[in-house]
Amino acid sequence: MKTQVRANWSNAVLVCAKCSKKLDGGFGPKGKAPLAKALRKHLKLKKGRKADEGIVEVKCLGVCPRGAVTVVNGAASREWLLVPEGADLDEVAGELGLTR
Ligand code: FES
Repeated sequence: MKTQVRANWSNAVLVCAKCSKKLDGGFGPKGKAPLAKALRKHLKLKKGRKADEGIVEVKCLGVCPRGAVTVVNGAASREWLLVPEGADLDEVAGELGLTR
């Protein structure tokens, strides 16, 4: 059995799924998409391992901000981001170093 698979992600960004659920969307042009999905779409990322960067939803990270979503940038995990509902996706991507 293989013990490794290649993903070639240049980074991994962890987005709290529970925060996203609490906002019932909150991002994207219509404000209806969850942050992870909106970001992936905004950056035109491919799916799963084929993407250049991984943006994945994870369980509650224990911060639970009101009206915002907790995000961990794998490349800079010392400071976590609390992304307010409806935040500008260019700015969020910039803060995460995901600009392209
Ligand atoms: S609900 Fe997102 S950090 Fe707890």
